[in-house]
Amino acid sequence: MCGIVGYIGSGNAEKIVIEGLKKLEYRGYDSSGIAMNFDGKLVVEKRKGRITNLEEALEKASYDFGNCHLAIGHTRWATHGAPSDVNAHPHFSMDHRIAIVHNGIVENYLEIKDRLIKEHGIKFVSETDSEVVAQLLSVYYKGDLEEAMFRAIAEMRGAYSICAIAADEPDRIVATRKDAPLLAGIGNGCNFLASDIPALLKHSREFYLIENGEVVVLTRNDIKIYNSEHQPVTRDVFHVSWDADSAEKEGYDHFMIKEIHEQPKGLTETLERRLGADGTVKLDGIHLTKEDIEGFDRVYIVACGTAYHAGLIGKYAIEKFAKIPVEVDVASEFRYRDPFVDSRTLFIAISQSGETLDTLAALREAKSKGARIMSVVNVVGSSVARESDDVFYTWAGPEIAVASTKAYTTQLMCMYLIALYMGRVKGVLEKAYHDRIVEELRAIPAKLEKLLEGEQVIKNLAKELYRIEHVFFIGRGTDSAVALEGSLKLKEISYINSFAIAAGELKHGTIALIEKDTLVVALSTQDRLFEKMLSNIQEVKARGAFVIGVAKEGNAAIEEQASRTIYIPECMDEVTPLLTVVPLQILAYYIAKERGCDIDKPKNLAKSVTVE
Ligand code: F6R
Repeated sequence: MCGIVGYIGSGNAEKIVIEGLKKLEYRGYDSSGIAMNFDGKLVVEKRKGRITNLEEALEKASYDFGNCHLAIGHTRWATHGAPSDVNAHPHFSMDHRIAIVHNGIVENYLEIKDRLIKEHGIKFVSETDSEVVAQLLSVYYKGDLEEAMFRAIAEMRGAYSICAIAADEPDRIVATRKDAPLLAGIGNGCNFLASDIPALLKHSREFYLIENGEVVVLTRNDIKIYNSEHQPVTRDVFHVSWDADSAEKEGYDHFMIKEIHEQPKGLTETLERRLGADGTVKLDGIHLTKEDIEGFDRVYIVACGTAYHAGLIGKYAIEKFAKIPVEVDVASEFRYRDPFVDSRTLFIAISQSGETLDTLAALREAKSKGARIMSVVNVVGSSVARESDDVFYTWAGPEIAVASTKAYTTQLMCMYLIALYMGRVKGVLEKAYHDRIVEELRAIPAKLEKLLEGEQVIKNLAKELYRIEHVFFIGRGTDSAVALEGSLKLKEISYINSFAIAAGELKHGTIALIEKDTLVVALSTQDRLFEKMLSNIQEVKARGAFVIGVAKEGNAAIEEQASRTIYIPECMDEVTPLLTVVPLQILAYYIAKERGCDIDKPKNLAKSVTVE
């Protein structure tokens, strides 16, 4: 989704802002632009398409960049108005004295636009909601951009982060946010603004996280934050421990494959930080007492996309280990269906970015009804984390590829740990069983390393299969949830039409679509359901399907049924999802690569979905 970068200092503002925007490309965008202040004259360049188009335009225009020390930039993911040069940000006010960049949606923009046209004769040039921000600021501007910003946001509804500059104020940037991320980076003789940390990691690892309704004013040597009553606030510095290298490809062709390979490390981090010397689970950042846990009569796990798929495994784990009924819901549905939530509800939000608007809105809905809010989040200090009672971080490190991989497996690990903890504290999980599961979880990273060493087999399979157009993923038990994730991975990066279904459901309709050479990926890792899966494989084979069986080492009987087999290392049924998903991620990656797809930036997708 949209990205923001701002810089003020003595360096080359254009270079720093463009570099920062490139670090945000992974979020998905369709146009980009920059506004610069050259000694009291604002200049805006913006182009549809990749940032290279913008760079070419800037080069052609041959500005004196050495003379520009203040700039704001933007990558846009279209919501209101098609991707085009005109709709790209920054947007000018009619008199070209104010320029803004905006993430999010101004929900009442039509109402404001109408009034600005009628009462002030303002002429709009774009189809965007964002342009109203620039025009509204100019109506209120009387030489003080900060004051104008306070007046403008008092009128706006929706979710936004906004950075604004004025021609007459070449020494400051004014920004604000509501329900969309914004942070100020602390430099030496310079300061920065961004919607995401990776944009600024090259320059700073110290940040101020801006809160809803606050206005932040940046000068070269100072960052001032004001609350909604215009009072200055003091904010603790937020220190980021990861460095710029974690956000680089380090020799891999794509972030996605790098992140697939980082899973053993991420899982070790996520697990080992939470195990006491005696091997029992400690939940840092979570303060659930025995009374709290005994008081919950239901758990809701709410998330979107891949994080929702992790929630489905969370349901198996919590119901099995902690014996509490769990409902899993997609956030965009949960919030509109008047769910039964009260103070006996534990609400768990799962989100890599911690900024997904639907998840955030569902969390607020549950909170307003009295639920206890826990979140499983990767981005430290994100909105979901800040609005939760308890946060359990995934410690996957920055995830840059749009297709989520290491966030998913670390989310799974967190769900296992939460379930084990609740089961033990509640006294419904036997110590010996708990210890066996912990042992199994501890063995996962080494097993994953082994699985990744066998990557070539899957790469060869991808070469054989990449031309297919329809794929079905089937499985039983936890495999049916992993099937959903495998299918999503494949479709989002390779654009192949893929569909996941619980294997037992096939014969209730979907089997009608199976014909000669249809590809079926049959996840058959659950020992107790293995024979049932062999029957399902036979059913689709009988209709001509080409079947890839995925099974645990030792279950060689699958080779008699499947056309090809992928093995995962031996482990207990309870923890197989942590392994089973990885060959599916690799398969999706290499199929997309063979098809020449833009893997880290799939079409129409954004890394962090901050609109409804
Ligand atoms: C798919 C993917 C998305 C996200 C979803 C939720 O690979 O990444 O489906 O899982 O948009 O995002 P977060 O986890 O940031 O809330």
